[in-house]
Amino acid sequence: MNQTVTNKPFIAVLSGQRQAVPPIWMMRQAGRYLPEYREVRAKAGGFLDLCFSPELAAEVTLQPIRRFGFDAAIIFSDILVVPYALGRSVRFEVGEGPRLEPLDTPEKISALATEADFSKLEPVFEALRRVRGVLAPSTALIGFCGAPWTVATYMVAGQGTPDQAPARLLAYRHPEAFSKIIDALVGTSIAYLLKQLDAGADALQIFDTWAGVLSPREFARWSMEPTRRIVEGVRSARSDAKIIGFPRGAGALLPSYVAATGVDAVSIDWTAEPKLIREQVQSKVAVQGNLDPLALITGGAALDQAVDDVLASYAQGPHIFNLGHGILPETPIAHVEQMVARVRAYRG
Ligand code: CP3
Repeated sequence: MNQTVTNKPFIAVLSGQRQAVPPIWMMRQAGRYLPEYREVRAKAGGFLDLCFSPELAAEVTLQPIRRFGFDAAIIFSDILVVPYALGRSVRFEVGEGPRLEPLDTPEKISALATEADFSKLEPVFEALRRVRGVLAPSTALIGFCGAPWTVATYMVAGQGTPDQAPARLLAYRHPEAFSKIIDALVGTSIAYLLKQLDAGADALQIFDTWAGVLSPREFARWSMEPTRRIVEGVRSARSDAKIIGFPRGAGALLPSYVAATGVDAVSIDWTAEPKLIREQVQSKVAVQGNLDPLALITGGAALDQAVDDVLASYAQGPHIFNLGHGILPETPIAHVEQMVARVRAYRG
């Protein structure tokens, strides 16, 4: 088998090469827990203005790298820029989260564009070029998109919902119409991810935050199959593309997800069962995760214990240390420092 030659520990792990000290980064590492982020955010105006200002987006992407020396930077943007490029209205209300025009009937869906206007996303590509230009060669740059299922949950409901019921109902009642949304997202996401690679991304992550609410049959149809098509589409143009899947809450369905989608790694949440993951997932691909973000808020001995548990569970195989979901705004910075120091002191 060909060994990938890379100076980036993060990329080496995605190629299946375990590192003595696992590379580390955090989902949502650029964000409101950082005072320097809040400062830039305040002067940017709206959240989308921040995403679409290459200078400011590059700056907030780099902030957590400067502060903590993470092994990977993730480009600052959002999964909902894809529906925006498909011509949907997308707004972020302060303190309330995203608001879109609901796409909840077959009639509305029949008018959905199938081709995105990528000129709207040019600032994201420019931000990637800027970040790659100044990032150390050993630090990886991650591009991303939402998985079609998760993006569709917001497009259908027009906002976040506790159980994604509007999208689940639409998928049961009108599967052909719902497929049209998924197909538009698959095609757009392939092109979007390829453009991110062209702009300097070293790896890609597909966020399926709401995968865990689907029954096994619906999970196969709406989460795994569209993700498989994206992986295949990206690899048909870039056979060496490194892709991480994050089907949050997939639990015992993770081994099938890995087999069906062909991802190089899976990001797992903190409820994962270590033995199942080691034997049926990490034996095939790299694993990323999975500290409980609430342990990070807690700090102290509870945080040390939680970090040690993650390392004991996964660091003997190809592992990237991360949280099981995004860092929360109320997290003390000192706790992030404590976590990074403990991971970097690991000698396994
Ligand atoms: O990880 C990073 O640092 C990169 C940036 C990033 C953001 N969103 C910035 C953001 C990434 C990778 C995302 C992904 C994303 N966006 C997901 C999937 C991952 C996950 O966390 O579940 C989802 C479901 C979204 C949709 C979204 N964006 C929601 C539901 C919200 C509101 C909730 C919230 O945290 O405020 C956003 C807004 C958002 N995206 C913020 C950030 C930093 C906060 C907005 C602000 O700063 O005002």
